[in-house]
Amino acid sequence: MADPVDIVVFDTTLRDGEQTPGVGFSVQDKVALALKLEELNVDVIEAGFPINSEEEKDAVRQISDAVRNSQVCGLARVVDIDIDTAIECGVDMVHVFAPTSEVQMAHAVHSTREKIVEKSRAAIQKIKDAGLICMFSPMDATRTDPEFLIEICKIAEEAGADWLNLPDTVGVGTPQSIQDMINRVTAQVGTAISIHCHNDFGMGVANTLAAVEAGATMVQVSVNGIGERAGNASLEQTVMCLHCLYENYKVKAHTENLYEVSRFVERLTGIPTPPPQPIIGANAFSHESGIHAAGVLEESSTFEPGIMTPEMVGHKRRLVIGKHTGTHSVEIALHEAGLIPGKDELLEIVKRVKSLGGKGKHVTQTDLFTIAESVMAKVPKEQRAIELDQLVVTTGNRTTPTASVVARVNGETRTEAQLGVGPVDAALNAVQRILGDSPKLEVTGFHMDAISGGSDAVATVLITVEDEDGKRSSAQGAGEDITIASVEALVAAINQLLRVREHSKEAAEVAN
Ligand code: KIV
Ligand code: ZN
Repeated sequence: MADPVDIVVFDTTLRDGEQTPGVGFSVQDKVALALKLEELNVDVIEAGFPINSEEEKDAVRQISDAVRNSQVCGLARVVDIDIDTAIECGVDMVHVFAPTSEVQMAHAVHSTREKIVEKSRAAIQKIKDAGLICMFSPMDATRTDPEFLIEICKIAEEAGADWLNLPDTVGVGTPQSIQDMINRVTAQVGTAISIHCHNDFGMGVANTLAAVEAGATMVQVSVNGIGERAGNASLEQTVMCLHCLYENYKVKAHTENLYEVSRFVERLTGIPTPPPQPIIGANAFSHESGIHAAGVLEESSTFEPGIMTPEMVGHKRRLVIGKHTGTHSVEIALHEAGLIPGKDELLEIVKRVKSLGGKGKHVTQTDLFTIAESVMAKVPKEQRAIELDQLVVTTGNRTTPTASVVARVNGETRTEAQLGVGPVDAALNAVQRILGDSPKLEVTGFHMDAISGGSDAVATVLITVEDEDGKRSSAQGAGEDITIASVEALVAAINQLLRVREHSKEAAEVAN
């Protein structure tokens, strides 16, 4: 078999991704994300659109200075000032674009084919004269008259473009139409082809892979698929498909960093990742059904792809307790906390867990242990590491939300005060701080529902905490006061997690 073809990963999270409605990164966030992308080993980082603002220019300049192992690219229209500004930032590559579909030429830039051709030619030559790598995008390529698309691609090639990027700007391509477009272009133009697919019909990744099959050697993607409207082809899905589903393509990306980078982008954007999201979603490697969990425990490829494991993407496999749970998963969860129920006790616990799940309730670890405690009469009541004594929160339109907490931590009274972006954040920060740095715990999930209407609605808060080893615990709190409900949920989740950690430490000591 011929050697696999290297597929260049061009990340546009910082540029197209930032065009996501409601998203804006600070300069500091941009630099931090660029460094994460470099660690992920993407080939090209599209750092931004420098002409957009002084801050954007500053961010692109700082990224060009900081990043060493990936190429840094800046976006520019086919106008001198944009190109000069990108060059001043010290980028390795300038990505110039011009609309080429009739609708965009007429209504977005009020121009003509002739003017677009001339400006594009001049822009490409200017970038090449500056000694930089040049990428040219005929924007809206999938809705561009096929003859004009070939004409402008030939001109870009003559002018010296290193890459021709064919954007499916409004996501109307299908795998077949994208392949036809690439075949038409590559029959007449020799320049390397890049593909940039939007996700308006949910076809972004499929269309990107179809483009690669037709000969594109660069994929433009964004972390978590963020971008204009419905976003771009997702980096993690595209990379893992190329890595696992094809033998004839190779990507350099360090796949084991994918989960971490995705979480980082989730935090920066504030856009929560839906649990069933492929590769990086909370459920991507989770199993609730008894048959699946039992199969996976014996051989993970029974109910997972096998060619892709959670370890490969830096994620974790989890057995989730709920309506569909089997005895085995419940037994494992209890054993992890040092609880060894008898056979009948276990069956009773499973029955009650299923019944709780069957009422539409999310079954948390706290629920499981509460059930276990009531079924297993001889089980000592949970030893609580943290006992909340007092919580005081101040907030207002002219004050930074502050919370102070008094709690008994392993029998010792401690006090802690913290600030936050709101009262809940401040309170949760204070509770986390009261534990100190060991163990390092992070709140990885926060979900709130109002059960009844009105400003006195009862809210339920579901909180998940995770330790540095990836052990997780979730618990629920409920009440009219959202802050108190949140703190109760956090304290319960921390206590459960500490109990599981304590038990695994003891089990390890016994084993040694
Ligand atoms: O979607 C698009 O057409 C773009 C261009 C700037 C390449 O993002
Ligand atoms: Zn785009």
